[in-house]
Amino acid sequence: PVLVVDFGAQYAQLIARRVREASVYSEIVPHNITAAEVAAKSPVAIVLSGGPSSVYEEGSPGLDPAIFELGVPVLGICYGFQVMARALGGEVANTGLREYGATDMTLTGDGGVLMRDQPDDQTVWMSHGDSVSKAPEGFTVLARSASTPVAAFGNDATRMYGVQWHPEVKHSKYGQDVLENFLHTAAGIPADWNSGNVIADQIALIRAQVGSGKVICGLSGGVDSAVAAAIVHEAVGDQLTCVFIDHGLLRSDERRQVEEDYVASTGVRLVTVDARQQFLDALAGVTDPEQKRKIIGREFIRSFEAAAEALVLEAAATDGEPVKFLVQGTLYPDVVESGGGTGTANIKSHHNVGGLPEDLQFELVEPLRALFKDEVRAIGRQLGLPEVIVGRQPFPGPGLGIRIVGEVTFERLELLRAADAIVRAELTAAGLDGEIWQCPVVLLADVRSVGVQGDGRTYGHPIVLRPVSSEDAMTADWTRLPYDLLARISNRITNEVAGVNRVVLDVTSKPPGTIEWE
Ligand code: XMP
Repeated sequence: PVLVVDFGAQYAQLIARRVREASVYSEIVPHNITAAEVAAKSPVAIVLSGGPSSVYEEGSPGLDPAIFELGVPVLGICYGFQVMARALGGEVANTGLREYGATDMTLTGDGGVLMRDQPDDQTVWMSHGDSVSKAPEGFTVLARSASTPVAAFGNDATRMYGVQWHPEVKHSKYGQDVLENFLHTAAGIPADWNSGNVIADQIALIRAQVGSGKVICGLSGGVDSAVAAAIVHEAVGDQLTCVFIDHGLLRSDERRQVEEDYVASTGVRLVTVDARQQFLDALAGVTDPEQKRKIIGREFIRSFEAAAEALVLEAAATDGEPVKFLVQGTLYPDVVESGGGTGTANIKSHHNVGGLPEDLQFELVEPLRALFKDEVRAIGRQLGLPEVIVGRQPFPGPGLGIRIVGEVTFERLELLRAADAIVRAELTAAGLDGEIWQCPVVLLADVRSVGVQGDGRTYGHPIVLRPVSSEDAMTADWTRLPYDLLARISNRITNEVAGVNRVVLDVTSKPPGTIEWE
């Protein structure tokens, strides 16, 4: 792999993704990794990420200098560039000159292997206080900016390079080119990592892990569990049984999409548990959001455990072999964030990604734990999964249960499902699915307002539209939907959904508002 050394902040994940966009496999490792641990991974190249620290700060993250003696090509970025410069005998100065954001950079020669054939003057994304004031011996300065005499350097003999700016950020126009020049030209790594290979590798790994054992997978209707189950099914066929809990809090058509479209495209054996009444009974009279979440989580686990137990018993009765493996759709960011990026010693997995309990007695099968979300989608498409599932926007585990402000009842769920289906259809028809992150549709069940519909007075409920744009759901902005689209949605909902006489738009960013209302 290409190892991306993490010096903190969010840069490492973005770099790892960009390396993979160059069709090269990457893994994130912590900065305190030793040269021996690096060597054990047989990396084809190393990228040092940026980070929030200054090399002058007491206790700022360092790097085992022996890593530079392994003969592996290295690209240092921003903070990683400065760490590299210092380790190799260059100088870093706190000049008091800071550069943040789009910055003009000028090549000082032909740009070397990183930037040859690129314009002499280009805009790059900078974010630094300290600067490299002198390149290490043997290194050529490749570019400068107004406040940095050394904005990039390189040494073709040792195949070591560095840039003060952020090539992983889209604002750096030639950033991806620089990364690819480093990977393919300087380090000589072929561009041969793609979703087809990932599927083939995972199938081999799953077969080795599972053997002839029996496997179960809980399907949520979301992308991750659907793709994970599809790969496992490719690997072990009907040794896999999928369990889908219909808790009655799903959106319109979701159960059918799983039971028909998904099964038709994958051929998986599916057991649906109809737990609709069980969930309604458990939620009766409950209005507090946190209580709703707890109840839904608890009932979900109960239903899954009961289904799993039934399958275990059934398997034991028919051929004596119990179900031993559980598939989880754990993704790479979960693994990195739970410490899995910190070397092999202390890998710990997110056990309850699908809301399943940690003490279920199964060995985990996690075919997506090296992948980012967009890669999972690409693999799902390659496996022929339906677009309604692969392209699905995030939908909370507690479903429509937390989009009814007030008590959850069957009638209210039906009403909200109808309104939500209209919104989704109109957003798709307007071609806006790619632009919005998600658009919760919320029923204010305890609020009523006066309306006039047909020839009479109505006293109905408002529906709230909550379209948001976001990168990762941590922060979000409300999406400026076109007025005529909003008008069409409003018309359709008030005409077609009985009991609703008003449609309102949520114009709050996150923070202060969360994306969901409960
Ligand atoms: P909030 O409302 O916290 O939502 O801004 C952030 C993102 O998380 C989703 N969400 C959930 N997903 N189980 C989930 O699987 C949950 O309980 C849950 N609550 C919120 C929400 O849809 C948004 O994408």
